[in-house]
Amino acid sequence: MGILEKIDKENAPKHIAIIMDGNGRWAQRQGQDRLFGHNFGVESVREALKAAQELGTKFLTLYAFSTENWNRPQEEVNGIMNLLVDTISNEVDELHKSNVIIATIGDLAGLPERCQEEMTAACERTKNNTGIQLNLALNYSAKWELVNATKSIARRVMEGKMKIEDIDNKAIEQELSTNSIPDPELLIRTSGEHRISNFLLWQIAYSEFHFTDVLWPDFKKDDLFKAVLDYQSRERRFGLVSAQLENKA
Ligand code: IPE
Ligand code: IPE
Ligand code: MG
Repeated sequence: MGILEKIDKENAPKHIAIIMDGNGRWAQRQGQDRLFGHNFGVESVREALKAAQELGTKFLTLYAFSTENWNRPQEEVNGIMNLLVDTISNEVDELHKSNVIIATIGDLAGLPERCQEEMTAACERTKNNTGIQLNLALNYSAKWELVNATKSIARRVMEGKMKIEDIDNKAIEQELSTNSIPDPELLIRTSGEHRISNFLLWQIAYSEFHFTDVLWPDFKKDDLFKAVLDYQSRERRFGLVSAQLENKA
């Protein structure tokens, strides 16, 4: 029996988030430069997307470029930006055909103009599709997002449009770039690192974490299925005790 058959599809996560890590190390292990690894990482994005589609996942959020990644050597940053432009323009037809909605989270205005144009066009073209939503986190960091949310709420209070007493979880969630998306049930990080690196902070309050040593360019459909199986072996208690969950079932 394949891994996919072992998964209870009814209870598969509706939103999976992935920190795609390890491209540089993968390339360096083969004596290649880091960009070689980023290029190969694109194939793993295809694999993860296909696997998520097979599972009926509604949202797949991929951490593609963090606010901190600007501090890498200029050559690598330029290479990643070019790769983004090339990948989106090459793949958009196929993605559109398979009913994918392309969306972004992060500060798009901070990206090179070509990149902004390609991304905006791809989002616009696919926005009425009804399949999986692929959220690309570009120039994203959770702290950036939370600072923005705080500013926006403060502004509304100052302008008398909102009362301090009305600030609740929902009000904050509405200000996040994920405002129309449910929180991820499952967060995957590849490459053996066990950290969040400023990815979704608010949204992962109750996510299950799956860490794998697989480097991102080696990530295949089965690796995503393994993560989902691992997720399905967990008991999500949300602060309750086991017996309470059994009563609910
Ligand atoms: C992840 O791979 C891709 C980005 C952060 C853009 P890395 O480039 O971080 O690869 P490692 O972690 O150095 O191996
Ligand atoms: C996180 O990976 C960002 C992305 C995957 C885009 P990094 O490689 O930048 O994270 P650190 O530096 O290891 O924490
Ligand atoms: Mg890394």
